[in-house]
Amino acid sequence: MDKGLSLYQKGLKLSLVSVVTSMLLSGCDSSSHLTNEQKLDKQLQDKIEVFNLTGDPSKNRNLPTIEEPLSQLGMKLFFSKALSGEMDVACVTCHHPVLGGGDNLSLPIGVDAEFSDLLGDGRHHSSSGDHYDGGPTVPRNAPTTFNIGMWDKVLFHDGRVESLGGTPGQNGNDGQGIRTPDSSFGTADENAGENLTIAQSRFPVTSPEEMKNFGAMDGTTNSEIRAYLQQRLGSYGTPPGLSLFTNTWLEEFQSAFEQPTATAEELITFENITKAIGTYENSQVFINNDWKEYIEGKKDALSESEKRGAILFFSSKEEKGANCVSCHSGDFFTDEDFHNIGMIQMGRGKGDGEKGNNDFGRYRETSDENDRFAFRTPSLLNVEVTGPWGHAGAYTTLEAVVRHHLNPQIALDNYDWSQIDPNIQAVDMVTNTQMAIDKLNSDRTASRDVIEIIDLSDEEIDDLVAFLKTLTDPCVLERECLSDWIPDASDSNPDAMRLNAVDNNGDYL
Ligand code: HEC
Ligand code: HEC
Repeated sequence: MDKGLSLYQKGLKLSLVSVVTSMLLSGCDSSSHLTNEQKLDKQLQDKIEVFNLTGDPSKNRNLPTIEEPLSQLGMKLFFSKALSGEMDVACVTCHHPVLGGGDNLSLPIGVDAEFSDLLGDGRHHSSSGDHYDGGPTVPRNAPTTFNIGMWDKVLFHDGRVESLGGTPGQNGNDGQGIRTPDSSFGTADENAGENLTIAQSRFPVTSPEEMKNFGAMDGTTNSEIRAYLQQRLGSYGTPPGLSLFTNTWLEEFQSAFEQPTATAEELITFENITKAIGTYENSQVFINNDWKEYIEGKKDALSESEKRGAILFFSSKEEKGANCVSCHSGDFFTDEDFHNIGMIQMGRGKGDGEKGNNDFGRYRETSDENDRFAFRTPSLLNVEVTGPWGHAGAYTTLEAVVRHHLNPQIALDNYDWSQIDPNIQAVDMVTNTQMAIDKLNSDRTASRDVIEIIDLSDEEIDDLVAFLKTLTDPCVLERECLSDWIPDASDSNPDAMRLNAVDNNGDYL
């Protein structure tokens, strides 16, 4: 039959077939959905390949579990107020697992709170505390301790704890040394300890606002403060300062370090204290999420909106994307580098600028003009629970902090003041933030590589936020799941100084 058909007729027949086929594929309701979804999956698969993503930032890392004896000891230390000068603050004051590994505040209050065990909303500085002004006392937002063992280069918003090797997968434990505030820029601190997490944990106790307080130990050096605290915990030395009422730390250290006959002087050293704390922190691995499942092949782990958001995230401006990946790169969603994105500056500041209430970020460490107002790119894993966001906690919704990136000037001009605690010191917020944006604009004019201005529709912003929420490990949303990282009544309380956190309603966290 076909034999006699002209080419024209054949073409017609073919095109009829294709019209019918495409009607079948796209004409009817449910199958059109499928096509769109498949298109998104294809685009996203390309991105996953281009950026070499596996969904698993813990791959090839040697991270401890919470069950290990050293993690257990570290947990008790992390929750003990005995490590603060006047025994009213513990690490957990600002890094509670139930509060996303942070404190749920824009800016923290460490020492001299009205109620030391009240965390989050309702935590205020006591009017009898040093330097009282009604607002928060610590100048930067407390980052999460979740997944802290995945950092390889820098800790802190300005990277002042820094691996000199920066070898991927090593958390600074690559034999090349770690620079800390105790050593000068670019040189290793001999006492830093084996990884970045341990190195960092040597510092909160030396900060007057965070843990040390302004009283008894004023004028002492960092190493004197640490010596004092190890003696307090170990009940040895002269003078041991405040000895603890109950003290079974020696038994705890003997069993965790498996040295049953070692003495307090041998075992309860600041080195071992921070080793245990760092091990506990590094056991906080929360990397299971819908995005990972998607990469591993479960195509329905993400909704269409989340897929569209992911595509925006990983696409360049030329591809009509938001190019978030240019900084939030890799499976840990950070380049571990520093960028000025004109982030809102508020609070007491770091002593920078004319009035001392500005924060020059990375410049404070490098004195390099290019680093002025640059801050470290945060990881975005579990970002849904780590707010408020920004180095000064100026944004209390994910949508607002995402919008800020797209156009910092518009974000500053339209900043919604109702989102923050009115006690936060913000008289110079506009001037200080404008300085950062002006620097950003002049860098852009000079064609330096800076964050681009990007136009997105409201729907696209919703999609991006939906994608960010796929990075949440369900465990961090459940008290029950987090309970392994929080001591309870069945765990020993070696100094009776445990911080049992309560919220504003008096309920235990
Ligand atoms: C009063 C609140 C407060 C207390 C108490 C506190 N921290 Fe922090 N922590 C912060 C703030 C704020 C930062 C960020 C400071 C900066 O970047 O300049 C931070 C940073 C960190 C970081 C680096 C996070 C990152 O992503 O770079 C770790 C880890 C950490 N703290 C662990 C601890 C440990 C361990 C203790 C106890 C020894 C402790 N903190 C006590 C507020 C606190
Ligand atoms: C030029 C680099 C760069 C690009 C591009 C970028 N970010 Fe960021 N992002 C940062 C830096 C740096 C910070 C922290 C700034 C600060 O606190 O001063 C940040 C902060 C954030 C935060 C707050 C996290 C926290 O813990 O406080 C979120 C959420 C975020 N970025 C999402 C995005 C999204 C979504 C995109 C794409 C629209 C994006 N970022 C593009 C560098 C970048």
